[in-house]
Amino acid sequence: MKEKTKDNVYTAFVGEAKAYFRLLAYAEKAEEEDVQQVALLFRSIAEAERVHATRHMQLLKEFMVKDTDTNLEKSFQREQSISQNEYPNFIKDAEDEGETAAIMTFSQARDAESYHAKLYERAMYNVIKDIVKAYHVCQVCGYVTEKKIPDKCPICGAPKEKFQTIE
Ligand SMILES: [Fe+2]
Ligand SMILES: [Fe+2]
Repeated sequence: MKEKTKDNVYTAFVGEAKAYFRLLAYAEKAEEEDVQQVALLFRSIAEAERVHATRHMQLLKEFMVKDTDTNLEKSFQREQSISQNEYPNFIKDAEDEGETAAIMTFSQARDAESYHAKLYERAMYNVIKDIVKAYHVCQVCGYVTEKKIPDKCPICGAPKEKFQTIE
């Protein structure tokens, strides 16, 4: 793909991916306000934007998606960087501004990201290709474990019912 088009496809991908989440939030608001038809409309268009984002990502695959070893390494580095640099900076700014809710979500996300990094690291070094084990994801903070579901999430304290199993 030529440079300008590639940049545009990436920009379109980011825009559609953001729209997906924004429209789901709009749908939730419409449900709170009991305007069900509009809630359904937002949910439907959110789904359509997800389809668009997926299609754009298909075009970007040849640039953004490498072999699995490389993808693991890259994902590990991103998690390291976000948990050691970006989130700590965000937390500091939120502290300066006294934004307690943001301090909480940033801190828990930072902690979850460092677990993600560990899982990637483990996958990079012990080739796990032969064993297929389920992972469990905390739906409150994003903590991920391959062990059994804890009674309480070690990061946010959510009960075990809040875990979703990916298998
Ligand atoms: Fe992560
Ligand atoms: Fe959690």
